[in-house]
Amino acid sequence: MMDLSKKIYGYDEEIWVRLLSENWESGDRDFERINKVLEEFKALKILDLGCGIGRISLRLASKGYRVVGVDISEQCIKKANAIAEEWGVSEKAEFIVGDYRKLEDFLGEKKFDAALCILSRAWDDLPDASSFFSKLRAHIRDEGVFVIQDLCKDFFFQAVYNAPTSLNWFKVMGDLLLLSRWKVDFLTSMVSTSREIYRKVGDDLKLLSRVFGDYKMLSISEYAQALKLAGWRVLRVERVAKADPTDLELLSNDPWFSYSFQMIALNSNTIR
Ligand SMILES: C[S@@+](CC[C@H](N)C(=O)[O-])C[C@H]1O[C@@H](n2cnc3c(N)ncnc32)[C@H](O)[C@@H]1O
Repeated sequence: MMDLSKKIYGYDEEIWVRLLSENWESGDRDFERINKVLEEFKALKILDLGCGIGRISLRLASKGYRVVGVDISEQCIKKANAIAEEWGVSEKAEFIVGDYRKLEDFLGEKKFDAALCILSRAWDDLPDASSFFSKLRAHIRDEGVFVIQDLCKDFFFQAVYNAPTSLNWFKVMGDLLLLSRWKVDFLTSMVSTSREIYRKVGDDLKLLSRVFGDYKMLSISEYAQALKLAGWRVLRVERVAKADPTDLELLSNDPWFSYSFQMIALNSNTIR
């Protein structure tokens, strides 16, 4: 199991909150796609797993959804609550500090119309993902929906095969510069990441942090399999970005967008 108690994906919490804050605007784009699904399934009560600073939760709350956001980072939840207050949506959005793999500890018997897991992976491999997906069903009403959006190896490996340079990328986020190097082991699907975060100070760059991480990137079919094993009915999947796999500028500008899929699954006990 990943140790997320002190660092968030290896980042100091303070830097993590800064990075999420710099990425706030992308929430408009992601909200549109998620909102369409929630409308389609008439979902009003939403559980946002790994909600970060509320990039999606708060947009949902401001449109009238009732949202419970859970994040393991206290600093993220603090920030989410502050924005909720600022936006006047505190009545609609509740934020909880907690490990979403232990939902039973803080949700009790509560059930939701939909769960979201947007770029918030907290599993090491397929069996681990499946066991969490199975637990999650207890908190989603019958015919409720699960929307999962994350990086997958289908799109990522395609980019790496086309252009190995896509393993090295940078992203400018406000006055922060994120330099990232990825290594892939195609035999095991392990992706090793090494990142440097700099802050612009005058004409210079000040190194704030170096972060290393390893994780197994799953494929679309592995996610579908994990969901099916857990008893979800997988309805569909699509690529989030309509990206040209040779457009390196677009790919490296936002890898989390470029290499992500969105999968929709139903908590259905009805055999069809
Ligand atoms: C990349 S951010 C995405 C945040 C949000 N879903 C969004 O789209 O803006 C991932 C978040 O998941 C949270 N997270 C990761 N594992 C978690 C876990 N086991 N329980 C709760 N939160 C977790 C991290 O703290 C982080 O803030």
